[in-house]
Amino acid sequence: MASNFHGFLIFFFFIFMFFNYMTFLEAALVPAMYVFGDSLVDVGNNNYLNFSAAKANFYPNGIDFPTGKPTGRFCNGKNPADFLAEKVGLASASSYLSIIENRSHTYNINIGVNFASGGATIIPQPNQIFVTSISLSKQVVYYNSIYEALVRDLGVNKAKAHASKSLYLIEIGSNDIFAYFASPNLDKIYTPPQYLNLMSQHFEKQLKCYLWQRLYENGARKLVVIGVGVIGCTPAMRYQNFTEGCNSEMNRWAFVFNQHLTSMLKKLKDELFGFHFSYFDGFSIMLSTIHKPTSFGFSEVKVACCGSGRLKAEVACIPKVSYCNNRDKHLFWDKYHPTQQAHHFFSDLIFNGPQTYTFPINVQTLIAI
Ligand SMILES: *[C@@H]1O[C@H](CO)[C@@H](O)[C@H](O)[C@H]1NC(C)=O
Ligand SMILES: *[C@@H]1O[C@H](CO)[C@@H](O)[C@H](O)[C@H]1NC(C)=O
Repeated sequence: MASNFHGFLIFFFFIFMFFNYMTFLEAALVPAMYVFGDSLVDVGNNNYLNFSAAKANFYPNGIDFPTGKPTGRFCNGKNPADFLAEKVGLASASSYLSIIENRSHTYNINIGVNFASGGATIIPQPNQIFVTSISLSKQVVYYNSIYEALVRDLGVNKAKAHASKSLYLIEIGSNDIFAYFASPNLDKIYTPPQYLNLMSQHFEKQLKCYLWQRLYENGARKLVVIGVGVIGCTPAMRYQNFTEGCNSEMNRWAFVFNQHLTSMLKKLKDELFGFHFSYFDGFSIMLSTIHKPTSFGFSEVKVACCGSGRLKAEVACIPKVSYCNNRDKHLFWDKYHPTQQAHHFFSDLIFNGPQTYTFPINVQTLIAI
């Protein structure tokens, strides 16, 4: 097993050198992008999880993907991991488990690797859907194995230089909030403020002690963070309200968590020399879109595109369920996830949006540092 893995890494090396050259030819803005998080940026890791209930590798997911086929993305097409890669001139990074499980295929780890997993949470959750996902801490363990491979192939100095110019994208937190609201007993264990504090503490610990500390030591400097969106307005949550209004309590939680998140990032910047971040306030732009859909090119912000029943949220987006034709007009693809069009719109802002939505700088500026 160990020597197999070694052979596999040596194999990587040649692929790596080849794509190094290719990347040079294409003049990408950054050498690589590494992605951590949940279903909003998962590009297929969960396809390889035998016991996960959080899967999207079936039609009509992927209907608007270039191949027209399901990929494991929880979307009709591309997600922010894809769009941001495009923006910086890279191909989308492969999912970590696809690399590990299909060793005979050629993969380009040099452009980054995607560790994100649908259902991933910050706090370990007892609920089956979440527990079978790749947790954030496991994603970090996986990253370390990739980084070790880079060090073996390039040497420490070049691996560090590679890391220092690369982007690290993290998007996580929604599932922790969903889990609290869905759980029959979490509210008996924690009051809402206690749980929110726990989320923030866990995230801070993971970010500082495991994730970012490790990444920073290994040269990483540029972090892109996507805040939690207006998750109380997802069709799944509106469905639970007989007026079909948003779950305002849940939205308040998302808002407060995002505040914790940004102050944590500011603190980190003060503590770590040379560390820079770009935070995307997905919450405000999503809220603006919900209030004035037509100003942003949408016409349907309540009803999901894929699913059936009231708000298309009664039955989830499963095989053979109906889906809409005007997908570019819908904010939501299924009862939890935005459409490709929404992701495209948000990703443009992540990359070079104004300070209204990016704090303290956008990704384009982050790259130029
Ligand atoms: C899933 O099951 C297959 C076949 O039993 C096994 O080879 C593979 O390693 C498993 N994958 C994971 C991620 O556990
Ligand atoms: C249901 O929606 C209404 C708005 O239509 C909102 O005022 C109310 O807070 C919502 N209920 C819950 C439980 O979130």
